[in-house]
Amino acid sequence: MSARASDRRARERFRARVLEIVPPGQAVFDFGCGPGLDARHYAEQGRLVHAYDVDPQMCAYFRAHCATLIARGRIALRCAPYAQFLQENADAAPRFDLVTANFGPLNLVDDLAPLFEIFDRLLRPGGAVLASVLNPHCLADLRYLWWWRNLPRLVRRGRYALPGAQARIWRRTVGELARVAPAFHLSEVTPGAALFGPDPSGDPRRPGALTTLALVRCRYLFLLWRRGASGAARRAAA
Ligand SMILES: C[S@@+](CC[C@H](N)C(=O)[O-])C[C@H]1O[C@@H](n2cnc3c(N)ncnc32)[C@H](O)[C@@H]1O
Repeated sequence: MSARASDRRARERFRARVLEIVPPGQAVFDFGCGPGLDARHYAEQGRLVHAYDVDPQMCAYFRAHCATLIARGRIALRCAPYAQFLQENADAAPRFDLVTANFGPLNLVDDLAPLFEIFDRLLRPGGAVLASVLNPHCLADLRYLWWWRNLPRLVRRGRYALPGAQARIWRRTVGELARVAPAFHLSEVTPGAALFGPDPSGDPRRPGALTTLALVRCRYLFLLWRRGASGAARRAAA
């Protein structure tokens, strides 16, 4: 995820937004953490990090990459099959200020509703979810037959899936992602980084506004869901 210059810029922006949202001393849950590049960065910047990934090879890399911070108790990693992760956290206590999912882990999950229920449980009051998701409107994908074949599905249903090496790869519209969980409301949508041409903001750490031109030029979109009172209130009332 660091070969393309635009991906490197997207990672830099995603991290900058995370550190803006979560002050030092607060806790981040990194879902689909991969090799731990972000987890280590957040921990080095004074955040506590818990991370989860489904892939044992990614987790092995993560453990080596973050060894010192794991030993110091600044990072914890859970590696388990996805069904087990959902089960283990069904009654989890709220311990985190932000859930992150960088470079598309949410695109590899078939049904986001149960996952957001877990996020709702893991988050403290005022918590949020920040995810970088594949942009279904990226101009670079228009050269592929699969994009055209699935366009009617995207328009009608707001989503479609393609086969992938690890799991099905979902592309979802922002409208579809806005409806994913009643306990959350989508409060921010920004472009990741432009694949070509100048970045609209002119500042490598800031994505700028989501104009139509910015939308079609980026491979990833950053979405921020804020947790409404409804999640906690619903549970308190139950
Ligand atoms: C493209 S990688 C991004 C990794 C990391 N977030 C980063 O920014 O480098 C997507 C990650 O999601 C993980 N993943 C896929 N399905 C998952 C699931 N159901 N639960 C958790 N992680 C999953 C993969 O193993 C992979 O590490």
